[in-house]
Amino acid sequence: MSEGSAAARGLSQRRHIVTELPGPRSRALAARRAGTVAAGVSSSLGVYVARAGGGVVEDVDGNSFIDLGSGIAVTSVGNAAPEVAAAVAAQAADFTHTCFMVGPYEEYVAVCEALARLTPGDHEKRSVLVSSGAEAVENAVKIARHATGRDAVVVFDHAYHGRTNLTMAMTAKAMPYKAGFGPFAGEVYRAPVSYPLRDPEGMTGEQAARRAIDVIDKQVGAGAVAAIVIEPILGEGGFIVPAPGFLPAIAAWAAEHGIVFVADEIQTGFARTGAMFASEHEGVVPDLVTTAKGIAGGLPLAAVTGRAELMDAVHPGGLGGTYGGNPVACAAALAAIDLYERLDLAARAREIETRVTARLEALRAEAPQIAQVRGRGAMLAVEITKRGTLEPDAAETARIARECAARGVLVLTCGTYGNVLRFLPPLVIEDALLDDAFDVVAEVVTGAAAEVDRGTPA
Ligand SMILES: Cc1ncc(COP(=O)(O)O)c(C=O)c1O
Repeated sequence: MSEGSAAARGLSQRRHIVTELPGPRSRALAARRAGTVAAGVSSSLGVYVARAGGGVVEDVDGNSFIDLGSGIAVTSVGNAAPEVAAAVAAQAADFTHTCFMVGPYEEYVAVCEALARLTPGDHEKRSVLVSSGAEAVENAVKIARHATGRDAVVVFDHAYHGRTNLTMAMTAKAMPYKAGFGPFAGEVYRAPVSYPLRDPEGMTGEQAARRAIDVIDKQVGAGAVAAIVIEPILGEGGFIVPAPGFLPAIAAWAAEHGIVFVADEIQTGFARTGAMFASEHEGVVPDLVTTAKGIAGGLPLAAVTGRAELMDAVHPGGLGGTYGGNPVACAAALAAIDLYERLDLAARAREIETRVTARLEALRAEAPQIAQVRGRGAMLAVEITKRGTLEPDAAETARIARECAARGVLVLTCGTYGNVLRFLPPLVIEDALLDDAFDVVAEVVTGAAAEVDRGTPA
């Protein structure tokens, strides 16, 4: 146990519900929130967090939940990982901000070096650091447009790229992300993605790519396209893993037509899928990669990394921002990246995949509402439909997530149809916690009664 680890901080690594949910302190905070926080900001849990680490999140009433969300795929190295916390504290004691555009510092340079080393491809690379995933996607589009002199951006059905004006335009789902927020940025075009569960039976990745390319070619024209932006596994859209061959075929067509191929690895990056980046599973080398989330152990940091000739096409001063590559966030990223490599967390993600997929496939055999188990590494999901059909069942999905939370397991939902349960545990979670969490998921899915652990707080 390292000093400062979750266990050393007295965070017992177990599921433990000690009050009604939400408990009295959470209810008091909810009452305060109602009078001051904008209604448009929602939270999936009704409880308020006091501490988190390892594989658990503890609320202000002492309830301990197993974390199958990692703050939406962010705290892959563990929440408040001691190495990250120490790096943050040390950097904060030295300086918290100068603005890299004013007074540059080594930590920014070191993060860019790490990104060049870790992202797919051994070509010469450059990076720009920013503060959020959406900002990274915005910058990837700026760079691609500048480098190609073209306007059009192609995205896919079920895509999620963020909540800024341009990235709302790039995101597929209207409610809640886009409804009422238009007009949106122009020159964004949408093509069909490969969605094996819902595509015509037997459609290959290459055939799905041809279907997409036909749409792009006929409706936009290859010569007008600056960038094709795609998530190698579509995240918010439902953890959709395109059929093998789809991504390489799209990337090859982009290369043939001088189109910048952008892999949005904001959710899939940093060991989450069992490789450092999900593009690697199919040997795809993107021209640009956007990263965020897992990069910095919970600190706000994001990046665009890509071919030097594209990145360097932009004039000095054309990229940046006050907080981009904040030194505290960079120090956190360097500590987190060291953990990914030293602990081989990609291998751990593959172990989680084996363990959890076996559980979920066994559950599917008993639960006809599970239409498919899918995902890679520790980015796994089940799609819930009306029994024996492909009709999405969002109500049942919400029930399962709600009942899991009531029993102490934090599970997130996603999907264009709101019918996907997604599992994103921290990669440092213990096997015993994972097993307990998926016992609960199984009980809730099959409707079996579960005893809520009502012991005393640890
Ligand atoms: C694939 C992908 N792109 C972009 C974003 C936007 O990132 P952020 O919320 O940091 O702006 C997300 C966030 O979920 C994402 O999953």
